[in-house]
Amino acid sequence: VKVYLPFRTLEWIEETESLRIIDQTLLPEREEYLDLRSVEEVYGAIKVLRVRGAPAIGVAAAFGTYLAIKDEDSDAEALKKKLNEAADYLKSCRPTAVNLSYAVDTVLEEVETSAEDEPSALKRRVLATAERLRAEDEEKCRLLGLYGAELMEDNSTVLTNCNAGALATCGIGTALAAVYTAKAEGKRVRVVCCETRPLLQGARLSCWELQKAGVETTLICDNMAGSLMRSGAVDMVVVGADRIASNGDVANKIGTYPLAALARIHSIPFYVVAPSTSFDLSIDTGDDIPIEQRPEEEVRTVRGKVGIAPEGVSVYNPAFDVTPADLITAIVSEFGVIEPPFKTNIAEVLRNE
Ligand code: MRU
Repeated sequence: VKVYLPFRTLEWIEETESLRIIDQTLLPEREEYLDLRSVEEVYGAIKVLRVRGAPAIGVAAAFGTYLAIKDEDSDAEALKKKLNEAADYLKSCRPTAVNLSYAVDTVLEEVETSAEDEPSALKRRVLATAERLRAEDEEKCRLLGLYGAELMEDNSTVLTNCNAGALATCGIGTALAAVYTAKAEGKRVRVVCCETRPLLQGARLSCWELQKAGVETTLICDNMAGSLMRSGAVDMVVVGADRIASNGDVANKIGTYPLAALARIHSIPFYVVAPSTSFDLSIDTGDDIPIEQRPEEEVRTVRGKVGIAPEGVSVYNPAFDVTPADLITAIVSEFGVIEPPFKTNIAEVLRNE
């Protein structure tokens, strides 16, 4: 099956040596592309979510490491020093999605294990690694779509949170890849998007790309999911992940955990769709996942524009929550569907690949 989406989340422009991204802060009103030409610009774009979603920020950061060293011509040592500084800088940008450190560390490893000591050769290697990570992510998305679609029956309604679609990746997405693939296979699948306050990735981004793909889409406010599930209208909940611990606990966009709890109460299956680059086997449980806290203004206003609370009221604004493994029906990876018990099955699936 072939899924085609008429936009590019991120692409490397060879002639100008720049990373072209769709500026996600402007969606859905405007579809504009931005060329990032320095590591600082990449860092800034990730920080304010012009480029976002776990796999996409990883690949953007990998290209960012190249932008940091592309003009360093003195010697290999100076280049490696600069590369390491850029790596630390980029990894500090957003703490929760492990894809970011995975991608940056992959670049570092490629350079460290290289026998080359010509700056020009090392630079080519960094750029080639970033491009490889991009292509691999695209392929992982395709496979996630195929395995995820198997879980979807014809004529079903899928509820999702945030944006785990093409805009979050270099391919057709994670959770939404399953929807696009099921549709391409001829199944009728409807999607309900939770708006995803405070930054509204569900309303602004998921609805935008689902509409472009011709998927039947319904938008709800986050607090409407319970009543919709109780009405019997939701067949499954499908979300992405920013980091999955060894025991199957999943960090994803804030609001995911309450959806999992509601799904359990209403006996609705709850699936997580994520590439291997979102798994972190160095940590035992979700308690060890660092949760990004974001600026208070995101909660006191809508999109920084319209105030909705008295100035100075205190705010709690974690960008992610952790869904405990026992609320998850299965995790779809590019290697197939992983079922409980997650601790043994995740280790087995990832070790074999
Ligand atoms: O803060 P964001 O918009 O980067 O958060 C993104 C999410 O939480 C997605 O659901 C997650 O990255 C999985 S998407 C492939």
